[in-house]
Amino acid sequence: MESRFQIRSVKAREILDCRGNPTVEVDVMTEVGVLGRADTPAGRSRGRYEASELRDGGKRYGGLGVREAVKVVNEVISPLLIGMDVRCQRDIDYKMIEYDCTELKSKLGGNAMVATSLAVAKAAANSLSLPLYRYIGGSNSHVLPVPMFLYICGGKLAATDFDFQEFNAMPIGARTFSEAIQMGSEVYHTLGNMLKERYGKYSLNTGDEGSFSPPGVDNPEEAYEIILKAIKEEGYEGDFVLALDAAATHMYNLDTGKYRYRGKDITKEQLMEIYENLVNKYPLRSIEDPFHEDDFESFAEITRRLNIQIVGDDLFVSNMKRLAKGVEMHSANTVLLKVNQVGTLTEALDTASYAMRNSYSVLVSERSAQTEDTWLAELAVAINAGQIKNGAPTRSERVAQFNQLIRIEEELGGTSRYAGRNYRIPPLT
Ligand code: PGA
Ligand code: ZN
Repeated sequence: MESRFQIRSVKAREILDCRGNPTVEVDVMTEVGVLGRADTPAGRSRGRYEASELRDGGKRYGGLGVREAVKVVNEVISPLLIGMDVRCQRDIDYKMIEYDCTELKSKLGGNAMVATSLAVAKAAANSLSLPLYRYIGGSNSHVLPVPMFLYICGGKLAATDFDFQEFNAMPIGARTFSEAIQMGSEVYHTLGNMLKERYGKYSLNTGDEGSFSPPGVDNPEEAYEIILKAIKEEGYEGDFVLALDAAATHMYNLDTGKYRYRGKDITKEQLMEIYENLVNKYPLRSIEDPFHEDDFESFAEITRRLNIQIVGDDLFVSNMKRLAKGVEMHSANTVLLKVNQVGTLTEALDTASYAMRNSYSVLVSERSAQTEDTWLAELAVAINAGQIKNGAPTRSERVAQFNQLIRIEEELGGTSRYAGRNYRIPPLT
């Protein structure tokens, strides 16, 4: 082993995420002083089967402090990894996984492991003078993802009356990634003006991820109609498709087996009908978590019935075992890839390649609490995912990812391809 790739130190600190809550940042330093630094994002709309987060509890930061996780990195993970070769990502991740030895990473904490795992990858990329996407993905990484913009939100992400969590749109008709960003931004601002006119000035309040939260409206049809109107106003009719994250786990009542929707308790059959009507009425081409996280059967049924993208977020939690069950039962056809749901880069990459080998699409995703760290953008290009979910085209923690993708597009020049209409099955020629 060349000593210049050996890990000299692993050091964590507590920083803030975009919600102003603490999160873990890790510095991995090699023997020759090359640094890899990465942060862990955090979710609000979490699934039950996600890797756990170590939080301190108590009064400090409302219980959300991560001093315990920082201590785990500095005192437990660091001695495990010192001396290892930063290029051996798999060995390093499995060293942590084997030490942790729990189903949900509750001993070391998923939040401590994620930042460490990604910091190792960055230290390796920096040691080899490669961009992170090139290091992770190799010579064939060239696809710029279609951004799934979050325009209006509800559920756990905003103080609105919408039960569904996210009303999104994807600029599949753009020719390049930077054009996609321009289109998304123009629609965002026009939508803001239209919402203000229709629902009053409080519509301009934004929820998590920078999306609008119009008050006094709970009908998804109204959300889609006004988004489509803004798209049309900007001259992009036909260049966007709509997407939905129902996040239905959070509408579901385990005791009654029913979903809370617009003030009523409804059955899964009624919910299915609502989706069917929306798909028939609008250019809605992607639905995430249409049913609760344990209902693999209903996910299979909706995938059969609607010829569109069905995404598993809380269903799969980026976990290969849960995805394997989905593949077996034909539940959904796309995996939402959130590295911190599973806990290490290696496991997330395994899930992504397993998905692709089984003809599932991969939608790389942020969490509602991000930092300015841009490993997410790099990961999307690394695996030629074809699509990225990253909130609204506003606010620094969102824009940091988009701007990094603009830079990568420029760097790749003529060899890059914007996934566009092939967002589900890139790479394209
Ligand atoms: P998060 O939710 O708050 O857990 O990041 C986003 C999502 O459900 O996709
Ligand atoms: Zn989701």
